[in-house]
Amino acid sequence: MREKLGVFGGIRGIRIFRLFGIFRKFRGFGKFRKFRKLRKLRKLRKLRKLRKFRLFRVWTIAKANHTSQLSVLNSQFVKSSIIIIFIMSDRGHFGSKLGIVLATAGSAVGLGNIWRFPYMTGHNGGAAFLMVYLVCIFLLGVPGIISEFIVGRHGAANAARSYGSLTKHKSWRLVGYLGILTSTIILGFYAVVAGWCLQYLFASLMGQLQGDAAYVQQYFSEFSSHPLKPCLWAVAFILLTHFVVVRGIRNGIERASKLLMPILLILLVIIVIASCLLPGAVKGVEFLLMPDFSKLSGSVFLEALGQAFFSLSLGTACLCTYASYFNPQTHLARSAVEIALLDTFIAVLAGLMIFPAAFSVGVTPDAGPSLIFITLPNVFHQAFSAVPVVGYVISVMFYALLVFAALTSTISMHEIGTAFFHEELHAPRKRAAWVLTVVCSVIAVICSLSMGACPSLRLLGLDILDFCDKLTAQYMLPTGAFLTCLFVGWVVPRHIVRQEYTNGGTLSGTFYRAYLLAVRYVCPFAIFMVFLHQLGIL
Ligand code: PHE
Repeated sequence: MREKLGVFGGIRGIRIFRLFGIFRKFRGFGKFRKFRKLRKLRKLRKLRKLRKFRLFRVWTIAKANHTSQLSVLNSQFVKSSIIIIFIMSDRGHFGSKLGIVLATAGSAVGLGNIWRFPYMTGHNGGAAFLMVYLVCIFLLGVPGIISEFIVGRHGAANAARSYGSLTKHKSWRLVGYLGILTSTIILGFYAVVAGWCLQYLFASLMGQLQGDAAYVQQYFSEFSSHPLKPCLWAVAFILLTHFVVVRGIRNGIERASKLLMPILLILLVIIVIASCLLPGAVKGVEFLLMPDFSKLSGSVFLEALGQAFFSLSLGTACLCTYASYFNPQTHLARSAVEIALLDTFIAVLAGLMIFPAAFSVGVTPDAGPSLIFITLPNVFHQAFSAVPVVGYVISVMFYALLVFAALTSTISMHEIGTAFFHEELHAPRKRAAWVLTVVCSVIAVICSLSMGACPSLRLLGLDILDFCDKLTAQYMLPTGAFLTCLFVGWVVPRHIVRQEYTNGGTLSGTFYRAYLLAVRYVCPFAIFMVFLHQLGIL
């Protein structure tokens, strides 16, 4: 439990605020001297943060049994001034710049890159889709990421509170709520696919995935329609996520990302090399990199936009929540570009891992969501049939890669809701995390059952997993990103946007004008157009 001790008051109308220090447990004013050294920490930012805390009377101290409450410990009149000494909760921060980039990129890099991107690309004609996707990432995605970062770091709280704290119009909190709802639904169906990956990792370790195409197809349909197994794997995955999240920001999320992300990259590069060395692999590389613009249609734009936002975790309040743990020195624009580049690089590598292998054995990679569970085991089996051991190792590495990628993303989705319940319901972090774990497990079980065991569980003609995927990626994420851009571009006071973009004037603010232009006009307009198209109006 980390807390900050501060003094807040007013002397003849002038508000003063001092942050004296950070310490493990408040034990009275005896510690006062120690904090004098830290007076330099006093900053205007801190003064603003203060408004978010509720003031309690002295007698409420006894009730204030957890850190998310601001407890007024003492208040006394000193001539005409009121001095209030209080404890302010320290929500935790990422420890290093690398930690920030890896954790945030860890959120972005996930099944979206390795499972969704290849089947979307395969389904929408390859390189032409990639081109549209890249435009969406850099023209709309990067300004969107910076905007969420601005809201999150300035708000320094869960998403709903952050949005509410930047304006007098409290209805903007709804954007935060929308993000929290979206990420909870995504975590529900995402855990089902992540659970399949966990099961496939286990099966490939046991050598159960070796067989011809019909065998793998049957293996998948038997497994995914089993009433119990996929549900258990999905819940196991959510629990795995839960135990990382409850360890906190630095010890849980940052540490896991620093470990998993490098392993993920190494595994990916090894498989890409193995795949590109296969005979006939060039056709796969061409499919990914040589655009055929005749394949472009309206729905390609919408799918590319949804995929870009899904892959960047944009519009879910995830980036906003992570940014609330950033340091004041974090360069927001640069981090946004780094994350977008890393995310795109990994998506392209995933394409280079899958398409060359698929084309080398004559399989067209347009199988849809089951691509990595039905097509790929068979592809690996056939492609490396000359040296089965290599096929075995590659297959184990591939599913380990998927599990790691999924885990860094589910951690971020879980954190959004956990931070929300922790801060809004004043529940201890552990209990807040359990609330989310239970809610997401219920969604996961429903999604999983609708995939086979209860085929009557359908919405609008789609199974629940597909429905949740479409609902979030094509509607909720773009809506969240659209509203965030409007919010930062038109509602948040301009000096705050500038101050966050330039870290209080300490950075030069390169591309600030371009960013403003994008966030005020280009992004909302482009997203709106895609929506109109989707509704058949355009
Ligand atoms: N970006 C993640 C992926 O590509 C998915 C995700 C969506 C994560 C929304 C967090 C929030 O797999």
